[in-house]
Amino acid sequence: MTMDRQKVVDLCKASLEDVMVGNDEKGVQNGKDFYKFFFTNYPDLRVYFKGAEKYTADDVQKFCRFAKQGQRILLSVHTVVRLYTDEAVFLGHIRETVNRHRQYKMDPALWLAFFTVFTGFLADRGSLTDEQRAAWMQLGKDFDAECQRHLKENDLPHV
Ligand code: HEM
Repeated sequence: MTMDRQKVVDLCKASLEDVMVGNDEKGVQNGKDFYKFFFTNYPDLRVYFKGAEKYTADDVQKFCRFAKQGQRILLSVHTVVRLYTDEAVFLGHIRETVNRHRQYKMDPALWLAFFTVFTGFLADRGSLTDEQRAAWMQLGKDFDAECQRHLKENDLPHV
């Protein structure tokens, strides 16, 4: 069953309350925590992070690269959620995200897989309700559809 887009936004925003962006200690730690979870639970995906292919959670914690990258990814996720009710801008933001990842030659299946990773992170940090997870998966499906459409249009590998 498809949820109303505003409802998806409300549910996703509520699930992000504890992982706000910010340049204070808590905000910076939120971003690092995502990469600590990511690299610990999906070590094979570190291959895309040049120079950090063997990083452990402790390395992520130590290096300023992931303080910065943590903010970038969190900011992008918070933005995507807030744009879900503004379709043209939502889709434009996604295409630009795909363009910026072209250099990493990612497996195109990872665009959808990201939402399993991210909801896993949210669940690991606290409580993610079934309804919130469903909202993330609906958004993720629409996000992925635009990624694949854009990749195809540009003759790049897609699923
Ligand atoms: C940057 C991989 C999904 C947003 C990067 C970088 C890599 C990467 C390797 C460069 C960072 C570095 O080397 O330090 C991946 C992989 C993904 C994924 C493997 C899927 C599993 C996403 C998604 C978003 C996103 C879904 C947005 C919602 C960003 C942003 C940057 C970035 C904002 C900063 C650089 C820039 O904006 O050009 N990503 N990414 N990524 N990623 Fe991803």
